[in-house]
Amino acid sequence: MKSVSVVQELMLINGKWSPSVNAKFFSVENPAERGSVIAEVPRATAEDVDIAVKAAHEAFKSWREVPTTERGKLLWKIADAVEAQAEEIARTISTETGNAIRTQARGEVKSVIDIFRYFAGVVSEIRGSTCPIDNNLMAYTQREPYGVVGAIVPWNAPVQLSSLKIAPAIAAGNTIVLKAAEDAPLGVLKLARICAEYLPPGVVNVLTGFGDECGAPLSSHPLINKLTFTGSTAVGKTIMRTAADRIIPVSLELGGKSPQIVFPDANTDKVVDGIITAMRFARQGQSCSAGTRLYLHTSIFDSFVEKLSAKLSQLKVGNPLDEESDMGSIINKRQFDKVSAFIEEGIKDENVELIMGGLPPKDGPLAKGYYHVPTLFATKNDKTRLAKEEIFGPVLLILPWENEEDVIQAANNSSYGLAAFIWTNDTTKALKTAGKIESGWVQINRGAAQMPGLSYGGYKQSGIGREFSLEGMLDSYTQVKSIMIDFND
Ligand code: NAI
Ligand code: MG
Repeated sequence: MKSVSVVQELMLINGKWSPSVNAKFFSVENPAERGSVIAEVPRATAEDVDIAVKAAHEAFKSWREVPTTERGKLLWKIADAVEAQAEEIARTISTETGNAIRTQARGEVKSVIDIFRYFAGVVSEIRGSTCPIDNNLMAYTQREPYGVVGAIVPWNAPVQLSSLKIAPAIAAGNTIVLKAAEDAPLGVLKLARICAEYLPPGVVNVLTGFGDECGAPLSSHPLINKLTFTGSTAVGKTIMRTAADRIIPVSLELGGKSPQIVFPDANTDKVVDGIITAMRFARQGQSCSAGTRLYLHTSIFDSFVEKLSAKLSQLKVGNPLDEESDMGSIINKRQFDKVSAFIEEGIKDENVELIMGGLPPKDGPLAKGYYHVPTLFATKNDKTRLAKEEIFGPVLLILPWENEEDVIQAANNSSYGLAAFIWTNDTTKALKTAGKIESGWVQINRGAAQMPGLSYGGYKQSGIGREFSLEGMLDSYTQVKSIMIDFND
């Protein structure tokens, strides 16, 4: 039901709050209440992209000259301002994404603060190396920004994922045009408001719009010097093709189907908790790094599944703003239907057993939003689509294993390679297994989130490039210039 008093937000272009050139808006929905409209945002197209990219191109000329320590100070101020508004931003994220405020949205804002402070701190590490060849010849390198970064982000952790583009890009002296996800632009606009307060106009620009109308022209704009994308593997491939036409660098953070391997000694409540965290149940499983394939050793299979089901049935699914809720709702109807289709497929497949959950109730409070409930399936058949594809819902598939070589092979039998989780107190086994896993991020006895300072990114079709770290910033947002000086008379 569209209410007449719905707020119309504006976009940030060249330091000004602007509608789109076509003056069109589109609605942002609260997914916990089907059909509700919480705000309208500008429906940007190629014309807006052009204005924003040209502004960023102009702003780059002076921003690159700002001393790194000064840039670091500004990032630190942004972090402080986010901290001062943390609760408000968390409520916005919770309302537009359906992510529970207590278990998810507040943590996301904390991560945003940590990310800005981390990159504020490491700016002085943007430097080159020297190569003294002899007394008459010297060579050195310096790291320079690319220019204008085009960034496209998804909705599942919208403000955190935007910070992972904005903070390192501008710390390194680039300017940025970021397109927020159409389902969750409001928290990102709040962050943009803070950025605009501290940064010169044009350094950070934030557009709201759809993938085809705004994302595509952004990725192909001739003044973009670097592309960075987080989202589906399918769109990531399109972005990479677009980058190929202009030979510009591209970073991609894409999907995952990450394995969790539980060894016989890890049959404990603590491991069960860790697995629930790693599966990102608190974000309804809508995470690229979710540990969605659970490999349980046959010797502990039944008792572990029992403990896991018992814990999962205690999770409270409901209104994301309710402090009692552990889990909120799926982002939108399309994703809700996609998750439902996977669950229906699992229920129909005679080689797959439904252990708990399944399709959500058709009436009652949960039917008012796009809620799904924690769902467990078990199977011996890893050919099922449930074992191969990213479901992006609270659906965990359990598979038995017997010997270590087989389980490592099964874990690696995926086109993805983002995260992996190994559960055992046998450190030798854990480290040997970690070494053989084809993933960019392996955690042993830990299911929690990424940590600023440690590189994060995918192997195989999970992506290219690293985020969260100094090396990620240097590789993604700077290019190396080698300079030689000849002192010969
Ligand atoms: P998506 O990849 O379509 O959307 C991500 C961003 O890309 C959005 O800002 C969207 O507007 C933009 N986009 C879409 N088409 C584009 C194009 N042609 N050119 C430029 N930008 C474009 O993801 P969507 O549709 O929201 O979710 C579909 C599936 O993608 C999910 O079920 C999940 O499997 C996966 N996904 C993975 C994420 C991750 O963190 N790796 C995040 C979101 C989705
Ligand atoms: Mg929404």
